Amino acid sequence: MGINLIVAICALLIISSFLLLINGVRASADAETKLNARTAAALYSKHCATCHGKDGRAKTFKAKFNHARNLTEPGWQEAVSDERIFNSIANGRGKKMPSFTKKMTEAEIDSLVQLVRGLRSS
Ligand code: HEC
Repeated sequence: MGINLIVAICALLIISSFLLLINGVRASADAETKLNARTAAALYSKHCATCHGKDGRAKTFKAKFNHARNLTEPGWQEAVSDERIFNSIANGRGKKMPSFTKKMTEAEIDSLVQLVRGLRSS
């Protein structure tokens, strides 16, 4: 076997393991995004839907009673920053919106900020 062949085989092995590694990282990132979407949806239906409605439009009796915000409103979505949404979920807002710092992690609140963004109606 010539030395060149050995070098070529080594190079091939290194490249293919590198590609496998990249694919693995990508697959786990995908899985993480999906997991986040799933946890966010579960968190929302458990903690938020009672006041804001499953669709975020705050049309339920309880929503009207509490004056919960319609989270789909484009005007509000445009005016509000991610930080403010995060803070409102973490610390509560007004007299009726409770604080959620004790019930969820920062990452979970982040995933809810993304979910709230996705509720926007065009
Ligand atoms: C007990 C009822 C209630 C629950 C539960 C509740 N909210 Fe609210 N939420 C409100 C009310 C009322 C307001 C309006 C507060 C105000 O502006 O005075 C509000 C406002 C908001 C706002 C707008 C805040 C801003 O900065 O303008 C966001 C975003 C929001 N809620 C998200 C959520 C999310 C996400 C959850 C679940 C983790 C949740 N809410 C749970 C009642 C509730």
